[in-house]
Amino acid sequence: MYHHPDLTPFTPRQRPSLRAAATNMIENWPSQAYRDDYAMMRGIWPILPKTLLLSDPALIEEVLIAKAEKFSRDRFQTRALANAVNRQSVFFAEGADWRWQRRAVSPAFRHDKLQALIPTFIQCAYSLAQEWRHAPQDAIIDVAPAMSRVTFDIILTAVLGAGAQDFDREKFLAAINPSLSTIAWRFLYARIGVPSFLPFPGASRVAESVDWLHNALTTLVAQRRASAGDHADILGLLLSARDPETGRIMNDEELVSNLYTFMIAGHETSATALGWTLWLLAHDQTSQQRVREEIQTIIGDRDIVVEDVEKIIFTRQTLQESMRLFPPAIGVGRAPIEDIDIGPHKIRAGELAIIAGWCVHRHEKIWDDPNGFDPDRFSTESAKGRHRCAYLPFGAGPRICIGMNFAMLEMTVILATLTRHFRFSLVPGHHIELATNLTLRSKNGLPLNISPL
Ligand code: HEM
Repeated sequence: MYHHPDLTPFTPRQRPSLRAAATNMIENWPSQAYRDDYAMMRGIWPILPKTLLLSDPALIEEVLIAKAEKFSRDRFQTRALANAVNRQSVFFAEGADWRWQRRAVSPAFRHDKLQALIPTFIQCAYSLAQEWRHAPQDAIIDVAPAMSRVTFDIILTAVLGAGAQDFDREKFLAAINPSLSTIAWRFLYARIGVPSFLPFPGASRVAESVDWLHNALTTLVAQRRASAGDHADILGLLLSARDPETGRIMNDEELVSNLYTFMIAGHETSATALGWTLWLLAHDQTSQQRVREEIQTIIGDRDIVVEDVEKIIFTRQTLQESMRLFPPAIGVGRAPIEDIDIGPHKIRAGELAIIAGWCVHRHEKIWDDPNGFDPDRFSTESAKGRHRCAYLPFGAGPRICIGMNFAMLEMTVILATLTRHFRFSLVPGHHIELATNLTLRSKNGLPLNISPL
């Protein structure tokens, strides 16, 4: 067995702890989930429903794909993540409402729309590279917030088009902060059954900022409705979306909810994945050099163009391997609508199934050297025959992440732009402690030494 202490920053706990539930909840996932098909979650609190942690691809396929319509989202996750701004979005909708919303938002993520966004990806990545060029030689930069900034710029342009210029991004980012930074509390309260009317630290700031966000986005939608002309951005597509069967269009609450969801889900996740990727490449200089050489061979010294993105295969594999080791979403939760059999298990209505992406990605039976970093695992040759649910950074089945291709394109462009211009190395003495908030973050950031090439 190989040892990668930096890449396995904790040991699964024998007994679940409240502290872990509030900081890094994966610590409470039992070690069997990395060896066996499933594990039973032990409750920290007696009122927690029975929870089955699934880490076998075939069982996961049953839940997410074959019997998908028999499950709804996990109500604890919904309680922790939903608020007055986002609760009517495609992310939280269920049944027929979800189906229509998913149909309505899908055109915004079609291949041709994404291709048209590549110049925006290139331009935003290039602006960040320019900024870093002016940093002092060998500056230490925390790449986690830097990645959030660049992916936020991108999603803003994708959603609002030219309107992104007038958008007060600083105020928006300040307003989402209280919600994001208290998610761990809300998860904890939800999971241990604290009633939702009881405040948690920071609750009043969350309420204020959610009000502000709701008003700001409602005004934005109203302004756009009043303005003339068609817009090719995501907001424009949502405004013109019409259900082909019923003719239904989105009301203002649904529009605001989806805008907010795209703005958050569309930048936090990709930023997290990019941060971990740069950190892993700093850890593995050989792979970093291979990414750089691939870009040199395929792109040389000219600007990146749309056609390059599909050709830089190792760069893409690096992102895939990074999301295997550090998936931005550690898992997805599901609750059966009625009693159901999954493999040999009977899951009753009211109980929970957690699809433990983190454990599947480090499962002893699925991967050689599961905790080691090796982008070649995602070469066509090596990936051949791998179960479709053995790798789940974006989930699977009908509710698979709608922004998957958007994110892969965007991240490939950003990674290529940064790696060709800078060398990344680890800061001695910095150690990783994981924090499971909205996404899987490093508690003390991802500071790296960055030197221009
Ligand atoms: C690396 C980046 C990303 C990761 C790792 C990621 C991951 C995920 C995961 C795991 C799910 C849940 C699937 C489930 O519950 O079964 C999801 C759903 C979703 N994601 Fe992403 N996501 C990323 C980027 C994006 C982007 C860029 C957008 C939008 C611009 C987006 C929008 C959504 C939406 C709207 C859903 C809900 C889909 C539904 O319920 O039908 N995501 N994502």
